[in-house]
Parts: sequence; structure tokens; C-alpha cells
Amino acid sequence: MSCIIAPSVLAADFSNLTAAVADINDSGAEWIHLDVMDGKFVPNLTFGPKMVADLRPHTSSVLDVHLMVYQPEDLIDEFARAGADYITFHVEAVVHSHRILQFIRNLGKKTGISIVPSTPVVMIEELLPLVDLVLVMTVNPGFGGQDLIPACLEKVKKLVLFREKKGLSFLISVDGGINEATAAGARDAGVDVLVAGSAFFNARDKKALVSQLKGE
Ligand code: DX5
Ligand code: ZN
Repeated sequence: MSCIIAPSVLAADFSNLTAAVADINDSGAEWIHLDVMDGKFVPNLTFGPKMVADLRPHTSSVLDVHLMVYQPEDLIDEFARAGADYITFHVEAVVHSHRILQFIRNLGKKTGISIVPSTPVVMIEELLPLVDLVLVMTVNPGFGGQDLIPACLEKVKKLVLFREKKGLSFLISVDGGINEATAAGARDAGVDVLVAGSAFFNARDKKALVSQLKGE
């Protein structure tokens, strides 16, 4: 089965996000990745739940919300009401990740946990039975347009093995530096979802780019 492609609107023109979403809708990409940054957990700021609520009527794609914030538990309810499908937060940003995952599930949403490049897979092993998605950051979060850190793909391989051993079914996503050149390595490592920001929005032919990322 081919990978799900999740273009990140972080690389789009924020003054024209309706056009960005229309481009994603037409491209063959299945998901839309929405990067929420608080200026504290990561050194950049983006947007809040209102953006998700405003974009929701413009697409039927899965909305994959990536919270790069401290105290994500304070925002989850609002993102759920805004129409997020997957709500992913960072294990590094919280103490009670187990409780937060249960909270997301109880809201009827898909749960995601993310790890930055310096965090090993073992940090989230206890949580894996509770997650629908593991988002492996392949750059240090905060900015688009960075180079993928190849060592992070080893974590994908570990997650694939762990999932098989434990009979789990979470999806594995990679985020950061995914483009025509790096996608093959990520696919070989066993990813299910490829997030792409700058590669997608810089591509003139977005349909062709999506096919290339999928390895078609
Ligand atoms: C970075 C974000 C990514 C970002 C990826 O902190 O989490 O989703 O949009 O951008 P590219 O694909 O340009 O590396
Ligand atoms: Zn992201």
C-alpha cells in the first residue's frame, strides 16, 4: 500500500490558505498537516484552533494537527471542536502523556504522539497501545525547509518492529525535510505517512510531486 501524503500548510502563503487547501485537495494528497507552534516549546509561532475551524469547511481531507506547544492539554478540546481528526502532541512537552492520550480518545479523535530527534523510541513505548499515530520528527521542530536527519529513520525501523511484535496498528509518520530525494529512504524504513511542507508548496506540479513521494 502506498504512503499517505500530508502536505504541511506551514510552507503555504498564510494570506491565502484557501488556495493552499484547494491545491492540496487537487493534488492527490490524502491528509492536511497543520503545525501549531507556541513560541516556547519551539522558537516560532503559527496559529490556533480558529484556523482549523475556518479551514474545515474547505476540505474533506483528514486534518492532522501537530501541536508543538507546552500544555497541549489546555488546547485539545478546542482543536477537537474545530474539526481536527488526528491530534498529536510531543512527549517532551508534557508530564502526563498517558492521561492526555485518553482525553483525546474520549473526545472521539485519533491520538498522536511525537518525538523530536533527541528523543529515543523507548520514551514512548508504554504509550504505543494508546496511539493511532506516531510522528517521528526528522528535523528539530519549529521551521520548514530544513534537511532531514537520516539517523531519525532508524527510529522508524524500531517502531515498525515494535508494532509487529506487539500486534499494534498505529501509523508511523515522518515530518521534516521530506522531498523527492529523501522520501525513498523514509518509505524503505517503513513509514505510513509522509509530511511535506516546502517540497509540496515549492513544486510546480503538485500531482507529480505527490506521486513521486509515494514512489509511484
Ligand atoms: C516543522 C514542522 C513541519 C514542517 C515541515 O517543525 O513540524 O511539519 O512543516 O516542513 P518541511 O517539509 O519544509 O521540512
Ligand atoms: Zn509538523
